[in-house]
Amino acid sequence: MTKRRIAVLTGAGVSAESGLGTYRDNGGLWDSYDPMEVASVEGWMRNPGLVLDFYNMQRDKLRTVSPNEAHRLIASLEEDFIVDVITQNVDNLHEKAGSTHVVHLHGEVTKVRPENCCNDEDGFSEKYVFDIGYDKVCLGDKGANGAQLRPHIVFFGEAVPKMERAIDIVSRADIVLIVGTSLQVYPAAGLYRYASAGTPIYIIDPSDVPLYDPRVRHIRKVATEGMKEFVGIIK
Ligand code: APR
Repeated sequence: MTKRRIAVLTGAGVSAESGLGTYRDNGGLWDSYDPMEVASVEGWMRNPGLVLDFYNMQRDKLRTVSPNEAHRLIASLEEDFIVDVITQNVDNLHEKAGSTHVVHLHGEVTKVRPENCCNDEDGFSEKYVFDIGYDKVCLGDKGANGAQLRPHIVFFGEAVPKMERAIDIVSRADIVLIVGTSLQVYPAAGLYRYASAGTPIYIIDPSDVPLYDPRVRHIRKVATEGMKEFVGIIK
């Protein structure tokens, strides 16, 4: 019997119990930083040093945290299902928990690239992207082509190159699971709508969610507890 396909869409809430901050909860990152200063194209053009410092801080924090039970339960779904994780998160906790198919819609904080690569001129080629782990990048750090290195992050105002791939995954899923996202940032927030007509959609979030689709079942719990309930439902 062929395995059913699960598309798992995650946001910052799935990493909250690992100790990484979310963006829009009380005390979230965007309470302390202006995303237009530290995570936008204009912010990069205006003050690249501030942007580099922000992501150096994110990378340094990531060094100190580990996947939580939600990441691990998502990874263990691969025993019985074909699982594609589509995450808005730039952390590497899904991979560290064992998920083998992860699409990072908004980039990866452990990766950098020369600032004039991986854009619409070169078809968003990732051949100049490389992993620096948890190290810092500073003004004056250049790529092989002599251009300033920047975080391999999709800034506000930039295209989301992996969106087409994500849409294909969701449109072919037998089950869609959404974990820990406020569904405020498009186009990622609209991905679940590409699920086919009969596909069940589960969302795990302790807060209210802005979904009114009849296919949606809201598991109103934190990710670690909600994942246990979800596994009990589908297995
Ligand atoms: N378990 C599950 N969900 C949680 C938990 C938890 N322990 N804690 C918080 N949440 C939920 C919140 O209720 C909220 O719905 O996680 C969600 C976090 O929402 P945001 O902070 O807006 O994060 P996210 O949806 O991932 O943001 C999307 O915005 O700024 C950009 O690029 C950034 O990828 C990010 C995007």
